[in-house]
Amino acid sequence: MINTKTKLIGLIGNPLDHSFSPAMHNQAYEKNDLNYLYIPIEVDKKNIEKILIGMKNLGFIGFNVTIPHKINVMDYLDEIDPIAEKIGSVNTVKIENGKLKGFNTDGIGFIRSLKEEKKVDIDGKKILVLGAGGASRSISIVLAEKNAEKIYIANRTIEKAESLSKDVNEKVKKCSEHLDLNNKDKIKGIIKEVDIIVNTTSLGMYPKIDESPLDKNILSSGKLVIDIVYNPSKTKLLKEAEEIGSDIHFGLGMLVNQGAEAFEIWTGLKAPVEDMKKSLKEKLSL
Ligand code: ATR
Repeated sequence: MINTKTKLIGLIGNPLDHSFSPAMHNQAYEKNDLNYLYIPIEVDKKNIEKILIGMKNLGFIGFNVTIPHKINVMDYLDEIDPIAEKIGSVNTVKIENGKLKGFNTDGIGFIRSLKEEKKVDIDGKKILVLGAGGASRSISIVLAEKNAEKIYIANRTIEKAESLSKDVNEKVKKCSEHLDLNNKDKIKGIIKEVDIIVNTTSLGMYPKIDESPLDKNILSSGKLVIDIVYNPSKTKLLKEAEEIGSDIHFGLGMLVNQGAEAFEIWTGLKAPVEDMKKSLKEKLSL
C-alpha cells in the first residue's frame, strides 16, 4: 500500500529499461511487508542537480546511481565514503537531514558474495583481475582493502591496467601489477601462481556467449574462477574452468549483494538476500 508513510528510493541513470534493480528491490519490500518504493528515473547529465534537489524535497531516503552518472554525481554530494572516494565513483546515495552521502557497494557486494556463498576470505590471496574498466576498479580497490596479497590487473588496453594498478598501489597498498591481456604466455604463468581469477570484461556476455577472455589451454585446475557477467549465468569462461577442474562462482552473487549492501545503507535493516536473489533469477529466467 503506497501512502504518506511510504519511503521513496530512486535509481538514476540513462537508459534504465534493462535495469533489474527496480524488480529486485520492490519485490524484496513487498515480500517483507516493508513500506518502501524503488523508482527508476531516467536523467540526462544536464538535469542531475535538479533531480537531486527534487528527491531531497520529496523526502527520498536515498537512491542508486548507474551508467552514465556514477562519476559526475560525485560533484553534487555533501560527503563521500572513503572506499567510494578511492574507487572514484558512487552507486548508492543516502539522504539524511537534507545531506547526500555517497557510497560504492559494487566491490563490497562482490566480496560479500564470495564470503557468504563460497566461504572465501580475500586476506592473503593472489588474484588475477581481467579488465580495467569501472567494475574492475570497484573490485580491485576493495580486494586491496581486504588485504589481498597480490592483484594482477590484465587488460586489452594496457594503459588502463597500468593506471588502475597505480591507483591500487597508491591509494590502498602496494600489491598490484599490470599486464597485457593479449600476452598469453605471461598470463598462463600468472594463472598458475594465483588462487582466484575474476573476469570483469564484457567478453562472454549475451549475445556474445561464444567469447571468453582466456583460452581454455591457458587455464589451470584448482583455482576459483569468477565471472561478474550474469547473463548467461555460466559463461564460456566458467564452463571451461569447470571442465578442467576449477571451482566457479557466478556473477549473480555480486549483483544481489551490491543491492543488499545498498538496502542496508538506506534502511538500517538486514537485507532479505534470498528474496532479492529469487526475483533476479525470475527476471533472468534462471
Ligand atoms: P564496466 O563498467 O562493466 O567495467 P567498462 O568500464 O566499459 O565497463 O569496461 C569494460 C572492460 O571490458 C574493459 O576492461 C575493456 O577493455 P578495454 O579497456 O581494452 O576497452 C574490456 N573489454 C570489452 N570488450 C573487450 C574485448 N573485445 N576484448 C578484450 N577486452 C574487452
